[in-house]
Amino acid sequence: MNQIFFIIVLAVLFTACSSSGKKDTAKTQSELQVKSVNEVALTSYKRHCLACHQRDAGGVPGMYPPLAGNKVVSGDKNALIDIMLNGMSGEIEVDGEKYNGIMASYKNLSDQEIANILNYIRSNFGNSGEVIKPSEIKARR
Ligand code: HEC
Repeated sequence: MNQIFFIIVLAVLFTACSSSGKKDTAKTQSELQVKSVNEVALTSYKRHCLACHQRDAGGVPGMYPPLAGNKVVSGDKNALIDIMLNGMSGEIEVDGEKYNGIMASYKNLSDQEIANILNYIRSNFGNSGEVIKPSEIKARR
């Protein structure tokens, strides 16, 4: 009798442990996914944007505007998408500093890569904005 009880306890313990184990694994996997999406985006940012806008997105005063704490970056999705697809030129003022440079178009990047980069700068450097989907990039091309 005692033995049967012991076996039941073991079985219950085993089920409890294995199901909570599964949950842990699932959580870790989704965390890893979020982490790797961010890492992929950071790699793209470094490759395509860092040279001018800098690692901390602080820009170079008078030459390359900061993307950190930038209203355009946190603002209207389409305006931001258009900058990536069409490039940008003409005088602008950011944080009281004037810029009159030229930024090339990034339309040769995939919808996914553009979305990754834009979501990366929109959710870091003191910015925040609605997530941009690759389909929204496609629609503006
Ligand atoms: C060769 C330098 C250079 C690179 C590389 C570059 N930019 Fe720019 N970017 C500029 C310049 C210069 C401006 C300002 C253009 C102007 O004066 O009208 C600008 C403007 C912007 C703006 C608008 C800022 C505002 O306040 O209106 C955004 C957003 C932006 N860049 C994002 C990016 C992203 C994202 C990347 C990487 C995919 C990138 N830039 C790569 C030079 C660059």
